[in-house]
Amino acid sequence: MHNKIERILFTESQIAQRVRELGEQISRDYETLLGEKLSREPLLAIGLLRGAVIFLADLARAMKIPVELAFMAISSYGASTSPSEVRTVKDLEIPVAGRHILIVEDIVDTGQTLAHLQELLQARHPASVKICALLDKIPRRARTVSIDYVGFTLAEDAFVVGYGLDYAERYRNLPYIALLKQSAIRS
Ligand code: PRP
Repeated sequence: MHNKIERILFTESQIAQRVRELGEQISRDYETLLGEKLSREPLLAIGLLRGAVIFLADLARAMKIPVELAFMAISSYGASTSPSEVRTVKDLEIPVAGRHILIVEDIVDTGQTLAHLQELLQARHPASVKICALLDKIPRRARTVSIDYVGFTLAEDAFVVGYGLDYAERYRNLPYIALLKQSAIRS
C-alpha cells in the first residue's frame, strides 16, 4: 500500500467487479431502449476530465453496445453552492441534438458539477441524458441530482483518492480507492 494511504475503501478487484456489473447493466438498458437503432445511433458516453478518465476507460470496455466517447472539463470554485461558480473549461466538439448521452463521473459530491452539466446539455436537445457515477458521496450534497447508475455509495464525508480521484493532482493512478492520511493533506 502507498505510504500516504490511511485505509483502502474499495480494492482493485471490488472496483473491477462493480465496473463489469455497471457495464452489463448499462448495455442491457440501452439494448432494451434502442435495440437495433444503436448501430446507427451509438450511445454517447461523456467523461468529465480529469477524474473520470480511468473509470470511463474501464467502463467503456465493459459495455457490449456501440458507444462513442467524448470529454468535457468543468471547474468549480471552493465549497460554494452558487451555480455561477461552475464553468465549462472544455466543451464538446460535436453536436448532441437527438443523441442518447451517458455522463460518466468519478464522484458526485455537492452535485454542482452535474447540475451545471445537465442544464447545459439539456439546452442542446439530446434524446436523453443519464448519469453514471462511480462514487455517490452523499453528506455534502447541495444540488439535487438523480444518478441513474452508481458504483458505490460513500456515507461518510471522507476525502478519497485513487482510480482517477486526486489530491493536488496526485494519486489518480492508484488502482484502488482509499482514504489519504491526514499527514499527507496540506492544512
Ligand atoms: C471533482 C470530480 C467531480 C466534481 C464533483 O472534479 O471529478 O467532477 O469534483 O464535485 P461536486 O459534486 O461537488 O461538483 P474536480 O473539479 O476535482 O476535477 P478533476 O476531475 O480534474 O479531479
